[in-house]
Amino acid sequence: MKNEIFNKFSNFKDFNLSDIELYKYKVAEKINFLTIEQREEILKKANYNLFNIPSKYITIDLLTDSGTNTLSDLQLSYMMLYDESYAGSISYERFIDAAKNFCNKEFIFPVHQGRAAEKILAEILTKPGDIVISNTHFDTGFAIYKHFKATPINIPTPYYKDEKYNFKGNIDLEKLEELLKNGNVSHVVMTITNNALGGQPVELNNLKQAYEITKKYNRIFVIDGCRIAENSILYKRITNSNKSIKEIIHDYTQYCDIFYMSTKKDGIAHMGGFIATNNKELVPKIRQLVILYEGFPTYGGLSGKDMEVIAKGLEEVLDEDYLNYRINQVKFLGDLLKNIGIPIIEPVGGHAVFVNASKFIQHLKPEDYLAQSLVIELYRLGGIRSVEVGYLMYSKDAIMNLVRLAIPRRTYTYKHLEYVAYIFSLIKDNINNLKPYRVLEADELVPHFTAKLAPVS
Ligand SMILES: Cc1ncc(COP(=O)(O)O)c(C=O)c1O
Repeated sequence: MKNEIFNKFSNFKDFNLSDIELYKYKVAEKINFLTIEQREEILKKANYNLFNIPSKYITIDLLTDSGTNTLSDLQLSYMMLYDESYAGSISYERFIDAAKNFCNKEFIFPVHQGRAAEKILAEILTKPGDIVISNTHFDTGFAIYKHFKATPINIPTPYYKDEKYNFKGNIDLEKLEELLKNGNVSHVVMTITNNALGGQPVELNNLKQAYEITKKYNRIFVIDGCRIAENSILYKRITNSNKSIKEIIHDYTQYCDIFYMSTKKDGIAHMGGFIATNNKELVPKIRQLVILYEGFPTYGGLSGKDMEVIAKGLEEVLDEDYLNYRINQVKFLGDLLKNIGIPIIEPVGGHAVFVNASKFIQHLKPEDYLAQSLVIELYRLGGIRSVEVGYLMYSKDAIMNLVRLAIPRRTYTYKHLEYVAYIFSLIKDNINNLKPYRVLEADELVPHFTAKLAPVS
């Protein structure tokens, strides 16, 4: 809509309407600025792990786009219509209608967040020794499958490092068939977009082929679709599709047995998720575990207020004005960083800019936790919180060493992002100051959340 208006007003030719925020403030939250000395003390106390830093000490929080979304005025209004009945609330009905409309599946089970869905699916689908294949599992699924004594395997497209390749979220179809032929694969998970490899989109045709190969071997095919709306706008732009976002999402979801999503992402909510399927045989299995772990299936760990927010969020995320603004804002930060010579994953994906830390920091090795070293410096100099996606998160299974700058939805302005780029320029000028780190201790399955680190002197 915004672009259509723009085209009508040729006297706007010197000003691109897509460069202006699509939203205005209705509630304001003051940002805190500390001194570098204060932040150095805070870092020491936090054992150089940014998950341990209280948010009041953060200036710009790009740790995650998960649950950090700014709610719309309509979401807040609908929240007040909540029905907190244990069974069969009106909020549940609105939630179910919105989830069905979004993913086009018949049976929907609310859960409290994405990893709850992963735990339930791991329990239903895997037994010890099984292999679970993915284009790239995200950290929670990866850890949960390991916890269930299965082996998660990532087989991204061989082109995932090719800057000219538009669908770097794809899966390697040859390897998929090989593994299905030879191994004890329980199921296949397509993560859409591919978060761990740069929020990169998955191509519809790649998904279709992956689904067909998986069905040839009679295995279950799952979509982790927490950013499928962002995937769909990227797909629409790349392919010049005339379809609506909803139609594109449905084109994708037709190729799976189970669709699940954390609604903390494209649900534009603070909490929640759901599991969806058309497979009647799976329904009692899912329902039983939802009752055991989450709650009665008409709330599944969510309050009526959460379900109202998600129902509206799943509707708002289909708006192309919103999605264009969202993708443009992420690209804006990517372009700023690129212009000052920071190596990023290109093309920029859906929800975050990923800095290629190995390319940026040449004097350190992955075993020095080089990407975490950059995460620490971004906080020390600018109070910016980001997250390492590399050796600390995945240890020797790390495919790349990246720093993810995840952009919360509808939260920061273009000026905030310019500040982030400015801090990067300072780091670049003194790149050799970045120190190696070592891990003193960490929990086995989720090291990045729990690690205590120290600089190597
Ligand atoms: C691709 C992907 N899948 C699953 C999850 C887990 O969702 P949640 O944080 O709601 O448990 C995340 C969270 O970041 C994610 O990015």
